[in-house]
Amino acid sequence: MQEHLKRQAAEASIEYIQHYKILGVGTGSTVNHFIDLLEPIKDQFEGAVSSSEASTEKLLAIGIPILDLNSVGMLDVYVDGADEINSNLELIKGGGGALTREKIIAASSKVFICIADQSKLVSCLGKFPLPVEVIPMAQHYVTEKLTKLGGRPAYREGFITDNGNIILDIHELEINEPLKIEHSINNITGVVTVGLFAERSADVVLLASPEGTKTLSLGT
Ligand code: A5P
Repeated sequence: MQEHLKRQAAEASIEYIQHYKILGVGTGSTVNHFIDLLEPIKDQFEGAVSSSEASTEKLLAIGIPILDLNSVGMLDVYVDGADEINSNLELIKGGGGALTREKIIAASSKVFICIADQSKLVSCLGKFPLPVEVIPMAQHYVTEKLTKLGGRPAYREGFITDNGNIILDIHELEINEPLKIEHSINNITGVVTVGLFAERSADVVLLASPEGTKTLSLGT
């Protein structure tokens, strides 16, 4: 059922990308459906900027070239999933560990379209453990700082990011003020990125349920 809803959300995003030649592409199981849906229309794209090695592999397999963000500059559109979404379209991302590249692409995109099934919508962010990418030598230092913020950081065993760093997942952190928490965590020395997307939230969320796909946006 959930896979079906993920695909439904991905299908809804296709109309938003039709007129663009270069896409920003996120990471995860929902985005995998999106990439599958690109295959029949791949010839209309010059290429994609990818947020992970996993998405790069999938995009190349269907014949979409990978472009370097530095040579593209600002992207028109970025499509990605999320682990949690609140009513302000602020997100937790990074369950798949690709948060840093995802954040760079989101910041470099004019429009960020988030695709998700209805289970991702929450009233308060933080039930899903908040991922933080950390420089390996700062693990102990950052763990102490995050504990002081009120959460319970856990080292993600056996996982190294595409950038060669580790992930600490913060459990039991109630995120009432996402922007403030995002800034506080980003300010800790040794933190590369926190998977809170409040400074750069989604512009549109396409939320799939058995009753249909809702479009959430702040402008409407
Ligand atoms: C990857 O690092 C994540 O940010 C994913 O975008 C997010 O976890 C959503 O993944 P699923 O679509 O697999 O739920």
